[in-house]
Amino acid sequence: MNDLLLKALKCEPVSRPPIWLHRQAGRFLPQYRAIRANHSFRTLIGTPHLAAQITMLPVDLLGMDAAILFSDILVIAEVFGFAFDFSDGKGIRLKEPEEEIRRDVHEALSYVSETIKLLKKGLKVPLIGFCGGPYTVSTYMQRTAPQWLEKITRATIEYLRMQIKAGVDAIQVFDSWAGKLGPLDFQKLSLPYLKKIVDAIKPTGIPVTLFGRGLTRYVKELVALEPTALAFDWEKEMSELRREVPAHIAIQGNLDPELLCGSIEVLQVKTKAILDSMKGEKGFIFNLGHGVLPHTPVENVQWLIQCVKDYHLTKGGIEQRIASGLPPERNPNLVPRS
Ligand code: CP3
Repeated sequence: MNDLLLKALKCEPVSRPPIWLHRQAGRFLPQYRAIRANHSFRTLIGTPHLAAQITMLPVDLLGMDAAILFSDILVIAEVFGFAFDFSDGKGIRLKEPEEEIRRDVHEALSYVSETIKLLKKGLKVPLIGFCGGPYTVSTYMQRTAPQWLEKITRATIEYLRMQIKAGVDAIQVFDSWAGKLGPLDFQKLSLPYLKKIVDAIKPTGIPVTLFGRGLTRYVKELVALEPTALAFDWEKEMSELRREVPAHIAIQGNLDPELLCGSIEVLQVKTKAILDSMKGEKGFIFNLGHGVLPHTPVENVQWLIQCVKDYHLTKGGIEQRIASGLPPERNPNLVPRS
């Protein structure tokens, strides 16, 4: 079992930083697009053998150090009778039900448990389960009143307990939109609900990472919640964040996903800068500051992963690769984009 991620989350020493990427099992992978061509997104996440197969793609093809369950933060809205409405060009919308309902979480989302159980049979890396931050989920449901934030939080905690029971090794909470709130609204609409989630899940012993965009302004408030780890975007340098976040809380981030779409030279410089600045630090997980963009060339992602994996090798590793400008060896199973 590759336990680099779990060790880094616990701020224990590791031979190199673990790497996984937000949206690693998505549209930038030709293999994902091939499966997606025949099924709707909702069908994929709701069909355990397909969801498990897609979860495995970036682990098997790209060598990620963790798998993240193929699902979506918005499935929790199905508990309240909302339906996915996905149209190309418009992205995801939630359709509200005719009347208010509350389904049993285990019954409504049993397909997620089944996917996790299937995955745990053969997985050699940790499996990350996840949920949305209640505030972020509420914005898609267009229900940001406190009583709805409460309801979503309660359902989310039940949902996470179900994921843990089914076998996930870590949890990440995506409160993607919380950082867009002003300080007072952040205190009122996001923080209290994140706190309830951390307080409910941490005692299970399963690590909890909090992620959001634009959250570097709220480091102090987030640290006070005592999550296992905090995941940031690229608004601040990782080394600066390491100084702000106490040593017992791990940090994750924070390459700008746009850099994976541009020249390899710029990608090299920035990747190396992050790795250099975090050298010897405990509790560091390499990731992007947000999801992999759909038009990202697979080769660039391969290069990034190899770069992080080779970094600790002083000879023949990243320095040499940068000097020679060589891309990493290609995985023959990956069909590069034309
Ligand atoms: O990271 C992973 O690979 C795991 C799976 C995952 C998805 N969405 C798959 C997905 C995770 C962790 C998410 C989180 C998510 N979903 C967030 C929080 C993170 C973030 O991106 O800020 C949010 C806000 C959502 C809601 C959502 N899902 C939107 C707004 C959209 C449409 C926009 C878009 O990116 O297409 C989705 C769709 C979605 N979720 C896709 C995938 C692979 C694309 C579906 C497809 O067209 O095939």
